[in-house]
Amino acid sequence: MLRVEGLYAAYGELEVLHGVSLTVEAGQFVSVIGPNGAGKTTLLRVLSGLHPTTRGAVVFDGEPITGFPPDLICERGFVHVPEGRLLFPGMSVREHLELGAYNRRARTHLREQMEHIFALFPILRQRHAQLAGTLSGGEQQMLAIARALMAKPLLLALDEPSLGLAPRMAAEIFAALRQLNHEGLTILLISQEVTQALLMAHRAYVLETGRVILDGPGPALLHNAQIVASYLGIAATS
Ligand SMILES: Nc1ncnc2c1ncn2[C@@H]1O[C@H](COP(=O)(O)OP(=O)(O)OP(=O)(O)O)[C@@H](O)[C@H]1O
Ligand SMILES: [Mg+2]
Repeated sequence: MLRVEGLYAAYGELEVLHGVSLTVEAGQFVSVIGPNGAGKTTLLRVLSGLHPTTRGAVVFDGEPITGFPPDLICERGFVHVPEGRLLFPGMSVREHLELGAYNRRARTHLREQMEHIFALFPILRQRHAQLAGTLSGGEQQMLAIARALMAKPLLLALDEPSLGLAPRMAAEIFAALRQLNHEGLTILLISQEVTQALLMAHRAYVLETGRVILDGPGPALLHNAQIVASYLGIAATS
């Protein structure tokens, strides 16, 4: 479904992705983990057309999309839930969902998709008329995911969806992602919740300073000595 080959990206003179390659098969749950500043957000921004690539190729759903504008990439079905959610505080839950379905493919399924989302996140049905700015952090993250789902993604890419949330809310978000994947949605998750991200992942990639240093089935990486030492040190000794 997604093939990234030797991707490079830079901010001015500073190169931050140095030849990243990864593959996401249809129906898979794929996680990317890595420390702060590794280039995870940059990678997602490049994939969704928000940041230029200097070298490399991205093939999505059988077609090269390298250099395509973000709206076209979204319309093709690669939909990105950005870091920090980027909601409109003065717009209601329902307005966000309608906005999410702006592309032609999604508009024809608007009602059906909204029902699906309200079943996944019942709190959003209760809060449908509420302004996004007055939702709790967890509800805002649910809305950001819901808005992305309204675009009828083939692949849903998420940047740190549990960042700053209480553990119970984070668990709810992860449970929703697992359910979406079970329903057949392909997921690319960036997360620093290493244990959760690896447990759920058919395949996981470890990104460090702009390079993939390790990949494999998520649960297998959980037992990898290098991962335990670098990411799970506290958990491993407790
Ligand atoms: N707009 C920018 N201008 C210049 N440098 C940037 C910009 N955004 C990110 N960088 C740099 O690019 C590198 C990768 O940043 P990026 O945000 O992709 O990392 P990340 O893995 O998402 O980190 P985090 O876990 O903290 O979110 C960092 O060194 C960062 O300082
Ligand atoms: Mg980031």
